[in-house]
Amino acid sequence: MSLTIALSKGKLLPGSEALFRKAGLDFPNGEGRKLVVAMDGLRFLFVKDGDVPTYVEYGVADCGVAGRDTLLEAQSDVYEPLDLGFGRCRLVVARPRGASALESASTVRVATKYPRVAAAHFQSRGVSVEVVKLMGSVEIAPGLGLADCIVDVVETGRTLVENGLEAVEDIAVSTARFVVNRASYHARREDVTFLMGALQKAVA
Ligand code: PRP
Repeated sequence: MSLTIALSKGKLLPGSEALFRKAGLDFPNGEGRKLVVAMDGLRFLFVKDGDVPTYVEYGVADCGVAGRDTLLEAQSDVYEPLDLGFGRCRLVVARPRGASALESASTVRVATKYPRVAAAHFQSRGVSVEVVKLMGSVEIAPGLGLADCIVDVVETGRTLVENGLEAVEDIAVSTARFVVNRASYHARREDVTFLMGALQKAVA
């Protein structure tokens, strides 16, 4: 097997490692800070969560593991053949607990790491929206007057609670997905099919 795999070095990494090992595949042991690791016919790229779809779309990686949240935001042209099940979270709109309905403002200002998802969500509901793009810690934005609400992922809900917010709308459920470059899917079909089969069995 000879494939390059882009993986998130963030929250999805432990789940990815567990799944690869369960599938009987080798996986780098995590020691050291090398971001490109080759072993047993596979080459692993450890990149930022949001960059996984980019590496796969451009064919630098044949395949990868990315959250559906990230894929919805990236809108990359990749195959998404397999739901890996782990990394489950919800993309939600959240606002300060007890705040008045968002619709009462003429334009809703929303802070988020997901500007496309946020804009599309409010526009689909006919709500005028101004998106403030942040790189993280978006839960503090409403309390500091930067935004009326946030669009973010919620896993346990603890970050929302501890920052005085509540989820008021669900946008999507997200889990980790196996994604494949369109050209690799055909040109390296045998290897991709083998890897996908091994992961699918481990998921089941
Ligand atoms: C994510 C997300 C929330 C938090 C949700 O942030 O953006 O802040 O996790 O988790 P919870 O519902 O279990 O509290 P992350 O840890 O990736 O950091 P970031 O805000 O810096 O992106």
